[in-house]
Amino acid sequence: MTQKSGTPLNDHITPEQLFFARRKFMRLAAIFGTAYALAACGIEPKTGLSLTPTTTPANLQDTLTPEESINHFNNYYEFSFSKNDVADLAKNLKTSPWQVEISGLVGNPMSIDAKELITRYPAEERIYRLRCVEGWSMVIPWYGFPLNRLLADLDIQKDARYVRFTTLYDPDQMPGQKSSSFDWPYFEGLRLDEAQHDLTLLAWGVYQKPLPPQEGAPLRLVVPWKYGFKSIKAIVKIELVAEQPATFWSSYNPAEYGFYANVNPNVAHPRWSQANEYRVGETGQRPTLMFNGYENEVAFLYEGMNLKENF
Ligand code: MTE
Repeated sequence: MTQKSGTPLNDHITPEQLFFARRKFMRLAAIFGTAYALAACGIEPKTGLSLTPTTTPANLQDTLTPEESINHFNNYYEFSFSKNDVADLAKNLKTSPWQVEISGLVGNPMSIDAKELITRYPAEERIYRLRCVEGWSMVIPWYGFPLNRLLADLDIQKDARYVRFTTLYDPDQMPGQKSSSFDWPYFEGLRLDEAQHDLTLLAWGVYQKPLPPQEGAPLRLVVPWKYGFKSIKAIVKIELVAEQPATFWSSYNPAEYGFYANVNPNVAHPRWSQANEYRVGETGQRPTLMFNGYENEVAFLYEGMNLKENF
């Protein structure tokens, strides 16, 4: 990965109305309560999805990144190394049907279509900061459900300590996977308690619409206190495992990308500082916050750990 230089990306930003995150929740609930929204997601309204309001630190002062920017500035190496090209190259990715295998150390393994999985759990709007290890950030209104809801239904066996996630492997549709520079498919992992934390989201929508392919449709992970590369896209497998799993970027370059990848302004990347970040759509730099601003919620997970060693 290369570092963002901090140059404003005005050519990618439409100066559309900026939404304040602290919006009237009722409006959203009304929108999402309709059959229209459910149909837009390809979901039958039979299960009666409800949208639960959530408050996260990002709700307090941050401005949402415009939809146009979120959808046209993407890291998705299966399609391109160039952020601006991903949306176009990914647009034909077939995201339905889409089987997700849930397996490993669970009493209830399953293979389930993403649409069915999504309808099982009430939809929530989560407005989160996303901080990329490269030094840029966004504020994104996701739709999804906490991963812990799904985990609670799996009858997790006592030896399970970690969760491993895998992206689709389909080089015909994802031409970047023909490159031998990486060990495809993309794979990621979390400690079980991180995966069970209420902030950890399985997202299937953004800006009140289903995820577009470039955003990781039909189902992706969002872990807002970690660098963006932990938020794996286009998930086809979720496994409960006993040992800490290898991850895509730490396998590629263990000196530069760790397993934990917690946002930490005090631990520099070997090639650049992590003290500041460029918020896409804004000018200048802003200080990066410990755990991306979610310190009160997640610091307890790492009590007693050396965060420089466990980077
Ligand atoms: N997931 C897959 N499968 N492939 C990728 O290349 N890139 C990661 C992450 N998830 C990536 C991925 C990185 S580096 C970042 S910063 C985020 O996705 C970017 O998410 P966004 O495009 O929604 O901003």
